[in-house]
Amino acid sequence: MRKPIIAGNWKMNKTAAECRELIEALAPQVKGAQCDVVVCVPYTDIALAAELCKGTNIAVGAQNIAWADNGAFTGEVSAAMLKEAGATYVVIGHSERRQYFGETDASVNARLTQALKTGFNPILCVGEMLDEREGGKTEQVCRTQVVGAFKNISAADAQKVVIAYEPVWAIGTGKTATDEQANETIGYIRSVVKELYGAAVADGMRIQYGGSMNAKNVAGLMAQPEIDGGLIGGASLKPDDFAIIVNTAK
Ligand code: PGA
Repeated sequence: MRKPIIAGNWKMNKTAAECRELIEALAPQVKGAQCDVVVCVPYTDIALAAELCKGTNIAVGAQNIAWADNGAFTGEVSAAMLKEAGATYVVIGHSERRQYFGETDASVNARLTQALKTGFNPILCVGEMLDEREGGKTEQVCRTQVVGAFKNISAADAQKVVIAYEPVWAIGTGKTATDEQANETIGYIRSVVKELYGAAVADGMRIQYGGSMNAKNVAGLMAQPEIDGGLIGGASLKPDDFAIIVNTAK
């Protein structure tokens, strides 16, 4: 049995004041959750979010992590800094990082390696673009991204990773993958994990769906056997909607 995990990805939204408002509205609504609940907030909100989530069942995550411990890496934030601020999860390899900020399978692998070495719970994002789906390349793209991300990572470490399957064409577009499409591709990703690490790791690994998941479509997606939760962008910015998603995931 895999415990579902619902994570909000706030992206570049919410000032500190807005962060406080959102978490104060959210926390009482999700306290009976039967899944793991995470909010992945901008760097500048992490310390406040961690303070506000103390004593709740909400964990705080960052949206990226530097691959080095410290040094001349302008604009990056280290594992020690994230940990001190109170983050325990970290999103790695989000498609927006890949599309707009030059992240590659190699940089994703380096960040994932560092996150595991420093004790974070990583949420690794993979997923195909629209032309890749239309060209029949979905499985090939997901395989390359998964194999690349896990390069030289041990089975003991791999089992700590949550994968988020996010078809890029479904992110922020209101165009969700159908329940069956999401289930099928997640099943495929699980088969790749099985090839890499064996059945025990693959069967235990939590794989989320992400891409326009919302309060209306969550039930159908969560009813699929391969889908172990969601990485939620837009709908995680509205506490009432995010709470419905969390409370549907059992
Ligand atoms: P969305 O974003 O829910 O707004 O589509 C999901 C994500 O990018 O993680």
